[in-house]
Amino acid sequence: MHNKLEELIEKAKAAVAQVGDLKVLEELEIEYLGRKSEFSQFMKSLGALPPEDRRTFGQRANEAKKTIEGIFMEARAAFAARAAAAVAETEWIDVTVPGERPPEGHLHLTSQAIREITGIFAGMGFTRVRHPEVEWDWFAFESLNMPGDHPARDEWETFFMDASPDAKLGKMVLTPHTTSGDVREIQKGRLPVRMINISKTYRRQIDVSHVPMFHQFEGLLIDKGIAVTNLKGVLDRFAQEFFGPDRRTRLRPFHFRFTEPSFEIDVSCGVCGGTGIVASGAKCRLCKEGWLELGGAGMLHPNVLKAGGLDPDEWSALAFGWGVERTMMMKSGVRLDDIRELYRNDFRFLRQF
Ligand code: DAH
Repeated sequence: MHNKLEELIEKAKAAVAQVGDLKVLEELEIEYLGRKSEFSQFMKSLGALPPEDRRTFGQRANEAKKTIEGIFMEARAAFAARAAAAVAETEWIDVTVPGERPPEGHLHLTSQAIREITGIFAGMGFTRVRHPEVEWDWFAFESLNMPGDHPARDEWETFFMDASPDAKLGKMVLTPHTTSGDVREIQKGRLPVRMINISKTYRRQIDVSHVPMFHQFEGLLIDKGIAVTNLKGVLDRFAQEFFGPDRRTRLRPFHFRFTEPSFEIDVSCGVCGGTGIVASGAKCRLCKEGWLELGGAGMLHPNVLKAGGLDPDEWSALAFGWGVERTMMMKSGVRLDDIRELYRNDFRFLRQF
């Protein structure tokens, strides 16, 4: 019996020495130690021995089992070490090689401009707010002194939502301008108001200078005794901080339904200094006449204040609203031939800013 155990150990050793891969080794282990193995048969046969012999042989058999298990364990460890050595051969790290920087993103040009604009107005006490991009006709037009079918509405080439109209608020639209937030802001009932509403706006237009989704910022200041001089002050301060200390604004009479009086705001050209003539004596190619058009502004129309529930004899308000993209493109250094590039998601373009 003793010899039988020695024999099994020797056989296992010899067999393991022949094995070339881990899978075969595992199969072999089952063959030698599994339930159907010669070893198991041997263990079972011990049951037939007298009790004292059973004890001694049982002990020996257990030792032999440990030895065989040890043989397999060692072989497995050797395989693992060889595999690790092979990996170490092909995959190694030279810690002295300079590191590779992970790609680092940055904010989109428009987001950068929004942050800057927000910061400048925050300095004048304006709080940034947001109002819905999917809006009711009433806020986008009706409450802004543009009754249904008014021809002025045509200028805002509006997207209409495929939704059932509200009895009071009318059709659902994608907001065509941030002025839609004015009456919403008044309805919050927190006076006085100094808000800057920056959000996406939508119009049915696309060409080199228009995209159907763009951004506007709308400023609204409501208080007692607000006059055009306050408007001019706010605009000048913005122009100087955003474009540069030597820039000025000009108010040109205009017409909007929701402001009275209304203006178009121009900013003096940064290239020719507002003269329209460059150093060589030639006409300025950027502005042609010294001024660049920024956007609209005015004193909120009494009907708009009333639509929000305010008494126009008590409260007065200034408002202005421009395109973010347009304003940012006027800043020197950023001159785009085609505004659509901003939203084509071409990294070669975006990385430049
Ligand atoms: N909402 C106007 C537009 O989209 C711009 C505008 C003009 C806003 C005059 C104003 C304003 O607040 O006073 O064209």
